[in-house]
Amino acid sequence: MQLTQKQINEFDSSGYLFFPNAFGTAEVQVLKQAAQDVFREQREEVWREKSGVARTAFAAHTYNDAFRRLGAHPRLIEPVMQLMDGPVYMHQYKVNAKAAFDGDVWQWHQDYGTWARDDKMPEPRAMNIAVFLDDVTAANGPLLFLPGSHKHGVVEAGHDLETTSYPLWTLDRGTVTKLYQQGGCVAPTGDAGSVLMFSSLLVHASPPNISPMDRTIVYLSLCHVENHIRQFKRPEWVAHRDFDPIEPLPDNTLLELAA
Ligand code: SIN
Ligand code: MN
Repeated sequence: MQLTQKQINEFDSSGYLFFPNAFGTAEVQVLKQAAQDVFREQREEVWREKSGVARTAFAAHTYNDAFRRLGAHPRLIEPVMQLMDGPVYMHQYKVNAKAAFDGDVWQWHQDYGTWARDDKMPEPRAMNIAVFLDDVTAANGPLLFLPGSHKHGVVEAGHDLETTSYPLWTLDRGTVTKLYQQGGCVAPTGDAGSVLMFSSLLVHASPPNISPMDRTIVYLSLCHVENHIRQFKRPEWVAHRDFDPIEPLPDNTLLELAA
């Protein structure tokens, strides 16, 4: 899949692109089953909310076949190779549960802010892809974006080690307000199977999910192979060290697992 010039321009100005229903029902079903399987596993890669429900399964592409296939899916990898102008490797892979009632906040942050400070990734030559495994609505803790905020480079942030189980470099209210006044705030919502691509510099967050509906999203964080991280402070399954280029798989790779 290749992006059009119009999509490239839109990505450049807003910092994100939305692809409704990029994956079909059978593919989503395979991935939802896979998410349930990994959330049940007792392993160090699966982090939990204070209540004990799963928050994030890190590196699920290394221990689950469906997530391995998604991590090399041509509908995801090819457009990112196009935007990054070359081969990419997987810097981080997360399956975020945002479980009904218990899914906790993700504070305001830029992903590249954390990758630069904690992992010494040289440039923001990296991208996020979010694949919705549930319908994402206004009610179940959608992602919030500040469009255009990726134009500001790495903004000042503080290291929040307390709010949730996941340490994050987060922005203060003044910074978020200033960026909001320039570009507004949006919550892209859509059906399970929809995909969001967003710049690693885009400021984003998500509120707690107090609804009775789960909001599972898989995140691939892809980085140009020459821009690999230089510092190995975080566990290997949080900030990966396999810098080999991802070879896209055939388009039907997930359907091969469908019942
Ligand atoms: C993230 O920003 O990495 C995750 C946000 C979310 O899943 O709501
Ligand atoms: Mn993030």
